[in-house]
Amino acid sequence: MTAAQSRPTTPTEELFYKPWDVFPFAQLAYHTCPADERMYGGAAGGGKSEATLWDAIRKCQKYPGSRQVIFRRTMPELQDLIDRATHYIPKHIAIYNHNDERFVFMNESRSNQASILRFSHMNEEDDKLRHRGEQYTNAYFDEGSLFTATQMR
Ligand SMILES: Nc1ncnc2c1ncn2[C@@H]1O[C@H](COP(=O)(O)OP(=O)(O)O)[C@@H](O)[C@H]1O
Ligand SMILES: [Mg+2]
Repeated sequence: MTAAQSRPTTPTEELFYKPWDVFPFAQLAYHTCPADERMYGGAAGGGKSEATLWDAIRKCQKYPGSRQVIFRRTMPELQDLIDRATHYIPKHIAIYNHNDERFVFMNESRSNQASILRFSHMNEEDDKLRHRGEQYTNAYFDEGSLFTATQMR
């Protein structure tokens, strides 16, 4: 197969991600858990951030028009996730807008079907106020134990 043939052809093509077999089942269990609220704990390097990122990416692709947000407590930590996402998501699938800190997924090439993957940090307690009135399909807190209870409500 030539490079041209192997190139993705549609904007909705599923991005490749394989739950990790280094720690068998943890990521798979997380992704397939049907609960409204899920928690994924474990040691540093256990695949939590990666699973968070990919769960959100997959939901953007699976549910056109949906809105995902990933929170981290500080901007440098958040930037690590943004960098990973930028590396994983090709530009023909979603465009990153630096000012809005979000990817817009061009599902079905129809703007009203675009999914949003937003990144946001909550250094200060009141940073939560920036999200008042926002409707999110899914909210993810990476390293949830670092947030205050009132930020996660
Ligand atoms: N499913 C996976 N496939 C390949 N690499 C993975 C996968 N999950 C995690 N990794 C890699 O393992 C390392 C640690 O994962 P990470 O999600 O950052 O751990 P944690 O957030 O639990 O500390 C990272 O370099 C990440 O890219
Ligand atoms: Mg992490």
